Amino acid sequence: MEKRNQAAKLIIGTVVIIIAVLFLAGIVAGHDLKYKAAPLSREDIAYKQVEAPQASGYDGTIQAADWAALYPDIVFSMGANKDNSDVVDYLKLDPYLVEIYEDYGFAKDYGSARGHAYTLEDVNKTERPHKTANCLTCKTPNLTKKVQDEGKSVYSMSFEDVYAEITQNGGETVSCYTCHGNNVGNATEARANLTVTHGYITEALGDNIDSIDPGILACGQCHIEYYFNPEDKATTMPHSSIETMTPEATYDYFTEIGFSDWTQKSTGANMLKVQHPEMETVLLGKHGKFLNCADCHMPVLENTKTQTVYHSHKLVSPLEDKTLLQTCLRCHTNMKTADEMITFVKNIQTRITDEETRIGNKLMEFKRALAKANQSGTMDEEQLNEIRELYRKAQWFFDYCYVENSEGAHNSDLSMRCLSTAEQLIKQGMALLTPAE
Ligand code: HEC
Ligand code: HEC
Ligand code: HEC
Ligand code: HEC
Repeated sequence: MEKRNQAAKLIIGTVVIIIAVLFLAGIVAGHDLKYKAAPLSREDIAYKQVEAPQASGYDGTIQAADWAALYPDIVFSMGANKDNSDVVDYLKLDPYLVEIYEDYGFAKDYGSARGHAYTLEDVNKTERPHKTANCLTCKTPNLTKKVQDEGKSVYSMSFEDVYAEITQNGGETVSCYTCHGNNVGNATEARANLTVTHGYITEALGDNIDSIDPGILACGQCHIEYYFNPEDKATTMPHSSIETMTPEATYDYFTEIGFSDWTQKSTGANMLKVQHPEMETVLLGKHGKFLNCADCHMPVLENTKTQTVYHSHKLVSPLEDKTLLQTCLRCHTNMKTADEMITFVKNIQTRITDEETRIGNKLMEFKRALAKANQSGTMDEEQLNEIRELYRKAQWFFDYCYVENSEGAHNSDLSMRCLSTAEQLIKQGMALLTPAE
């Protein structure tokens, strides 16, 4: 009896353990299957033609929730951009910035970017001044739609008024309309239906727009260098083709039109602030001709329950995503594992950021020396202007590298070129300030 009981207990115990193991394996496998060893690609997506749902947006934009029944995985994954919520305080990390950006908003408040879900919240709470609605250009499709409906005069409207209109009417942060317009339904040519909704891009590029992949333009609507036209405050892009996207050509453009973002009192220099030229660095880089932003930031996943293959709309770092790392290895065949790939990229980033710190501190010293000369009255205006020009230009090239979000991963040659150009200019300026005795 005793033995039989024990045997029964053993059998029950074993069954429980087996069930538990199968259950856990099920969870792991179910999850893991999303990340198949052989990476899925655009070719595995079953593109379909769908009828657009009713628009629930107050301004006629079809919102993410409206598409949820047709594209549940895409809508869900876009919502997951909330997970990217950490912010690094660049002013604490690199204190020399406070001096370089002196008298400009970025000297007061400059944190790293985070997920698209936070665009409206972050623009509202920044301590950088925002008087006009043009600040909302890259934050919400509802500003895009308003410009399309009412014209460029929207850019110079009051920030507070337009922000209130959008948020009080249930407007969205970066959403479907931004990159697809209301026509999200897939195109027939085995490719997503992407639409450039930000008019300043189509206006600036004209016919040259066709030479850029739609999957680069979609992101490049905001991840670019731009400026606010002083006359009408309109968001404007300073490029007319890929060739004009270099930091050199863009600097010349701003100088030719006599543009500056702010005047720094202590040095008397008319300064420029670079935004976030990711589209430029990617297009001019080694991947620019054959990969788009989605290829490296939007993994192709499969919902194993419904067998739907789709581009995840949660924008991630390729270094933190198994699926994307597998796609890198398809071309980077000299690397065997994902870890080797990560190390390769991180080494590049360390090289760039170390150099950035070195040049940033030199730029700060240059700024101090120029401010001193400016205040002491020992130099005439002509001499000072020559040095101010060197300082303005050095800051531009330094900034171009600093504010680009990939830390050199997109285009390390370009990052290095910017930093060494800045260093040359600093040397020239310092030589003029401290003539050999
Ligand atoms: C920031 C830009 C952006 C936003 C916002 C965005 N998409 Fe996309 N979408 C893309 C890109 C880029 C692709 C992939 C293009 C390619 O194939 O290279 C894509 C692909 C698609 C596709 C084609 C199928 C696939 O998986 O590739 C559908 C359908 C789609 N998106 C629907 C949506 C819906 C619905 C929303 C809102 C919930 C949305 N998108 C928001 C940029 C965006
Ligand atoms: C409508 C403008 C807009 C478009 C279009 C857009 N972005 Fe962004 N993106 C932003 C803004 C603004 C932020 C910063 C948000 C914040 O910090 O509040 C951001 C942040 C990001 C981040 C997070 C950065 C970090 O350091 O964590 C990534 C990654 C990113 N975008 C990639 C993309 C990709 C890839 C595309 C195209 C598929 C794209 N974005 C299209 C405006 C845009
Ligand atoms: C060949 C792959 C590749 C392509 C193409 C690419 N990126 Fe990146 N991107 C990277 C890598 C690698 C990083 C560094 C990630 C890290 O530091 O974790 C990065 C970083 C970023 C970041 C900083 C946020 C983060 O996660 O670190 C943004 C924003 C970004 N890319 C936007 C873009 C945009 C916009 C495009 C298209 C114009 C683009 N990328 C094209 C590989 C790529
Ligand atoms: C379609 C092929 C292809 C894919 C896919 C690809 N790469 Fe590359 N990558 C290249 C080529 C070609 C180069 C240039 C190699 C050279 O100059 O020696 C390169 C260079 C690089 C560089 C150096 C860039 C620089 O400017 O210093 C980095 C970083 C990089 N790749 C990261 C990635 C990452 C991360 C992925 C995956 C998310 C990836 N690559 C996917 C083809 C590819």
